[in-house]
Amino acid sequence: MRTTRPEWAAIRSQMTLPVFCAPMFLVSGVELVVEACRAGISGSFPAANCRELATYDAWMAEVTGRVAALKAADPAAKIAPFAANLVTHRTNPRFEQDLETILKYQPPIVITALGSPQRVVEPVHAYGGLVIADVNSVTLARKAADCGVDGIALVASGSGGHTGHFSPFALVPAIRRWWDGAIVLGGAIGDATGVRAAEVLGADFAYVGTRFIPTPESLAPAEHKAMIVASTMDDLIVSNFFSGAHASWLKPSIVAAGYDLATLKPRQGYQFKGQLGDEPKPWKGLFSAGQGIDMIDREQPVAEIVAELRRDYAALRAA
Ligand SMILES: Cc1cc2nc3c(=O)[nH]c(=O)nc-3n(C[C@H](O)[C@H](O)[C@H](O)COP(=O)(O)O)c2cc1C
Repeated sequence: MRTTRPEWAAIRSQMTLPVFCAPMFLVSGVELVVEACRAGISGSFPAANCRELATYDAWMAEVTGRVAALKAADPAAKIAPFAANLVTHRTNPRFEQDLETILKYQPPIVITALGSPQRVVEPVHAYGGLVIADVNSVTLARKAADCGVDGIALVASGSGGHTGHFSPFALVPAIRRWWDGAIVLGGAIGDATGVRAAEVLGADFAYVGTRFIPTPESLAPAEHKAMIVASTMDDLIVSNFFSGAHASWLKPSIVAAGYDLATLKPRQGYQFKGQLGDEPKPWKGLFSAGQGIDMIDREQPVAEIVAELRRDYAALRAA
């Protein structure tokens, strides 16, 4: 590992691979998280995947209970820690309540997205948790570091969801020069070569999203899974039309929703879902993916994907 902070070595020792199954809106739920943790990679779901606060509480209770039960059943097994994921942007109307729920269940890791991690760091540290801030530039990484985060999820070009536009080859070394915390690198990583390359670049973990969409455990609609299996990176378009922040979309889903690709106009600044007035609600019926989709040729269970990654990663390490 490149980070010199011992808390990350402790986290890595509970994992079978240096991989996070990245949180995904309308995709990650209890089953994806629990299966990821069972396979030894950190699982995570966004609070926004629960429409009601009571549902969020129930999901947090279930994930916490099931991950603890897996550990209790086999204390020698590597059961990876669970990570909560919270949009910290000021337009998120449920921020305070979701944070309260996080503090109630005390997940080992909290990943913040689309806003400053400032309001999260102190309360999470107070119970012994670690905070990772999701950022897509060196400037935002610095701001997050100044807030006292423990790790940075670096969303590089090629990422699914709200994407980045800087190359990982530029981002990781630029941040490694001054950052001794963890770097979790995301963007089109879908196989063991990508995981190993992230480490060689200077990251500690890989942040893998799209690869886990076509799994039986994901909540993604069948159309989303099938579109990912059938598509290539040429079928993607980056636009900020739907949420105000640049995201990587599957063109066929935009066309199917009745939009003309040529007329997606740029917007001013991110707005939490449902805040764009009469405009289309982002994500529902519109499908996102990262540029790693050419590596995906079928739906596979999480355990099978992780077993494959582990086998190939071990061979790469040995070589
Ligand atoms: C469908 C989809 C939904 C996403 N939703 C979220 C989200 O709600 N919160 C978040 O922090 N990141 C979200 N992301 C970004 C991922 O956490 C991660 O940064 C990204 O998937 C990594 O790139 P990859 O998809 O190329 O592996 C989403 C990504 C995808 C593909």
